[in-house]
Amino acid sequence: MKILVLNGPNLNLLGTREPEIYGTETLTDIEAQMKTIFPEVEIEFRQSNSEADLITWIGETRGKFDGIVINPAALTHTSLGLCDALKAVADVVPAVEVHLSNTHTREAIRHKSLTAPACIGQIMGFQGFGYTLALRALVQKLSA
Ligand code: DQA
Repeated sequence: MKILVLNGPNLNLLGTREPEIYGTETLTDIEAQMKTIFPEVEIEFRQSNSEADLITWIGETRGKFDGIVINPAALTHTSLGLCDALKAVADVVPAVEVHLSNTHTREAIRHKSLTAPACIGQIMGFQGFGYTLALRALVQKLSA
């Protein structure tokens, strides 16, 4: 099973970025945790600050990946393009959306996700561990 893990803008700064909200784990820590807990899954981990990169990468998943775990970061609340990209491959590459923070406890603008309707589910509020939970859910779905 091959899973693409995508990370949006500013997630490269995890570890030092608002640790009271996002925790102290870096993206490298999160990647290592996922790979340790799921050694049987082939995980490709990417981050970009560019919406275009993320849209392109999603569009290339058909036939190459079995599923996507995505934290679109701020693009969650703004990007119809990202939603459309996820919908374009959803018939064969299901996605799970993950957020480190519980966005519903934060500013109103973060309460709405434009990307969640294109995903099979969403996990939020568990900081870095949420990625492993998202992968667990995706593996379960793909194995069913
Ligand atoms: C985030 C939540 C977003 O609102 C924010 O813009 C982020 C991170 C999270 O993981 O909690 O960059 O996606």
